[in-house]
Amino acid sequence: MGVYREQVLPRVINKVCGTKEMQVMRAKTVQGLHGTVVEIGFGSGLNVPVYPQEVTTVYAVEPATVATKLAQQRIAVSPVRIEHVGLEGESIPLADDSCDGALSTFTLCTIPDVQQALAEVRRVLRPGGAFHFLEHGRSPDAKVQTWQRRIEPIQKRLFDGCHLTRDIAALVEAAGFRIERMTAEYAPGPKPFSWHTQGVAIALD
Ligand SMILES: C[S@@+](CC[C@H](N)C(=O)[O-])C[C@H]1O[C@@H](n2cnc3c(N)ncnc32)[C@H](O)[C@@H]1O
Repeated sequence: MGVYREQVLPRVINKVCGTKEMQVMRAKTVQGLHGTVVEIGFGSGLNVPVYPQEVTTVYAVEPATVATKLAQQRIAVSPVRIEHVGLEGESIPLADDSCDGALSTFTLCTIPDVQQALAEVRRVLRPGGAFHFLEHGRSPDAKVQTWQRRIEPIQKRLFDGCHLTRDIAALVEAAGFRIERMTAEYAPGPKPFSWHTQGVAIALD
């Protein structure tokens, strides 16, 4: 799995997650971000072109070296200062209350200890700071959930630990956030993979 995981998968994700439709969803997700933002699972920087102009600095957290290299072209033409600060969402090397906003797209499915990563996002966000997210996860339909549970072991092997059954809203709330706005629906495609949750959650005091 070494070459596949380290060399091939980041390139596949860069293509599959970079479609026009996905960029529209990303643009909607980042609306309202401003100031200093931490982005976990920065990947190949597919969100960089849609950062609002009010964003001044982005602290990127990403473990995949190839994805970080693929991001360089996008970073080079962005007016935003982007600094790669760490490898894992579970351990973000930033001070408490140091960010105005946080961003995660298609990453909470993959991070091994997602509760710890969300606790870290909460820690580095100032109280009242906003966590913007766009994630796939557990469908509310029992039949689809059954398929998600069946497929998940294969999905995890093929896509670097990507889960299909994580309840994104519940995880975010449990980490000390109040969900301010959220939409959840199926995107086009097979239902076990396409239940998407997009929202903004506010860091509680
Ligand atoms: C499906 S990709 C999404 C990438 C990017 N956020 C996007 O929207 O295109 C999941 C990303 O999570 C990253 N990742 C895996 N484990 C992680 C961890 N512990 N902390 C932060 N990111 C992680 C992967 O390297 C990969 O770039």
